[in-house]
Amino acid sequence: MKVFQAIEERRAVKHYQADSEMPAEDFKKIMSAVILSPTSYNIQHWRFIRVTDKVHRDKIKEAAWGQEQVAAASELVILCADINAWNDRPERYVANSPQETQDMLLPMMEAFYSGKEQIQRDEAMRSCGIAAQTMMLAAKGLGYDSCPMVGFDREELARLIRLPQGYVIAMMIAIGKAEKAAYPRGGQLPLEEVLCENHF
Ligand SMILES: Cc1cc2nc3c(=O)[nH]c(=O)nc-3n(C[C@H](O)[C@H](O)[C@H](O)COP(=O)(O)O)c2cc1C
Repeated sequence: MKVFQAIEERRAVKHYQADSEMPAEDFKKIMSAVILSPTSYNIQHWRFIRVTDKVHRDKIKEAAWGQEQVAAASELVILCADINAWNDRPERYVANSPQETQDMLLPMMEAFYSGKEQIQRDEAMRSCGIAAQTMMLAAKGLGYDSCPMVGFDREELARLIRLPQGYVIAMMIAIGKAEKAAYPRGGQLPLEEVLCENHF
């Protein structure tokens, strides 16, 4: 599938064929694409929880106020991020770069994030947002539909997935075969309203 077709056809689908399973190679292909998403300084804050246990899924569905797609979709992935990833063995993020690039980037990264909690958290969320879109487009490219979700009780979900201290849940994404098409688009703002030239 062409990139623009995937972008146009990706919709937030709420109803899935409950008996449809995703072949392991498709899931691997999607996730292998996801980890190629860009991140600031290549920090790759994301940590993904794939929920395979049915009972666990049902509990997560409850925490998501009963949203049907949480349990019905073939896959459910919870996108989490390590807020402190910038400071966790950062040499890994530049390991393949020339030594002089490493010597330049590592102190830059430290100066950029050290002591700046809001920016650390923003960055972790940004990384997950970009990963999320890659996930949904990759899924679409393989013939699956998806639904991104933040409609859940954060504390309860954190408890269920044993979210470590210093980590944040960005969203979760259900992926599967659609049973019903998405609702018509809610109403896109006109491009002229959201695109400015040079400044606001
Ligand atoms: C961060 C985020 C959270 C969302 N949370 C939910 C959700 O909890 N439940 C749901 O049914 N849809 C959820 N959606 C889907 C949006 O309602 C949907 O993307 C939006 O209406 C645009 O529709 P489209 O994705 O089909 O183009 C979420 C979307 C995003 C990006």
